[in-house]
Amino acid sequence: MITTKFTETFGVDHPVVQGGMQWVGRAELVAGVANAGALGFITALTQPTPADLADEIARCRELTDKPFGVNLTILPTINPPPYDEYRRVIVDSGIKIVETAGSNPAPHLPMFHDNGIEVLHKCTSVRHAVKAQSLGVDGISIDGFECAGHPGEDDIPGLVLIPAAAEKIDIPMIASGGFADGRGLVAALALGADGINMGSRFMCTVESAIHQNVKEAIVAGSELDTALIFRPLRNTARVASNAVSRDVVDILDKGGRFEDVKDLVAGVRGVKVFELGDLDAGIWSVGTAMGLINDIPTVGELVARIVAEAEDLITGRLARMVGSDEDERVLA
Ligand SMILES: Cc1cc2nc3c(=O)[nH]c(=O)nc-3n(C[C@H](O)[C@H](O)[C@H](O)COP(=O)(O)O)c2cc1C
Repeated sequence: MITTKFTETFGVDHPVVQGGMQWVGRAELVAGVANAGALGFITALTQPTPADLADEIARCRELTDKPFGVNLTILPTINPPPYDEYRRVIVDSGIKIVETAGSNPAPHLPMFHDNGIEVLHKCTSVRHAVKAQSLGVDGISIDGFECAGHPGEDDIPGLVLIPAAAEKIDIPMIASGGFADGRGLVAALALGADGINMGSRFMCTVESAIHQNVKEAIVAGSELDTALIFRPLRNTARVASNAVSRDVVDILDKGGRFEDVKDLVAGVRGVKVFELGDLDAGIWSVGTAMGLINDIPTVGELVARIVAEAEDLITGRLARMVGSDEDERVLA
């Protein structure tokens, strides 16, 4: 067992989190993560209506009696979803942990806290982490440039972002972006985090309800196979490099506007990738951790393996490096 400020505050066995994932964060995966002793989040906006979210939470409860949470991603959109109604469903369903992401969590905090809900806020810069801490969130998930989805515009990888944030954050903080195995967990702990959050790695598990072709593409892919779209619009997203994402980059690099790529990046196209397994149907999120993903285990196998590998590394190779007896030391 690895016990940290995070496991103690959020009441889970292992310092491992499955962050919200649009089209992927559904009941089977989240329940698998919970049953493995880690913390999973149902993605609220994957459900077309607040009532569907209530059903998905109920479905997850049938699959696990362990704690799990809901991710509420707040992104600036032309037609915003009914956030207040999704929030009401989260509260009424008795959820006790929420992951917020996308923008300032302030408008959502009073209602969550009044109902005994702990808020883990995910952000991509030290300044936003400090701000969220001052607003009273219960934990920070600091997401480095390696990550799938929205890495922000600062381009600071975890090796610098995590310790820089750790110097300013006193509440539990988990590290996010590029983690896929026990080595990453140990590195995150060494850099000052209290655990890790993973998206891409959990996407590529038996319980993740996406097409097998996508999982096999992740296994076949390397750390070089992602693309950063929307850079010129300052709304960068890391996605799989495919025919569509390369087109989007090209059009925007040549001065195109959002209107010119709107149809290419539409969610209805992206969801087809996950449902039909057509890898070029639209854009789909995945991170550079792809280069570390070589199999499709069950969530239970994955979490157990990550924790065991981390424990072995801490008590074995690393401990031997600092052994007091010169003869027992092993050169790295
Ligand atoms: C397919 C996919 C969809 C995602 N959708 C969301 C989302 O809707 N909201 C969110 O906060 N993060 C989202 N993320 C980001 C993850 O929660 C997590 O922060 C990120 O994947 C961490 O980087 P990693 O992929 O290197 O582990 C998504 C990631 C993936 C892979």
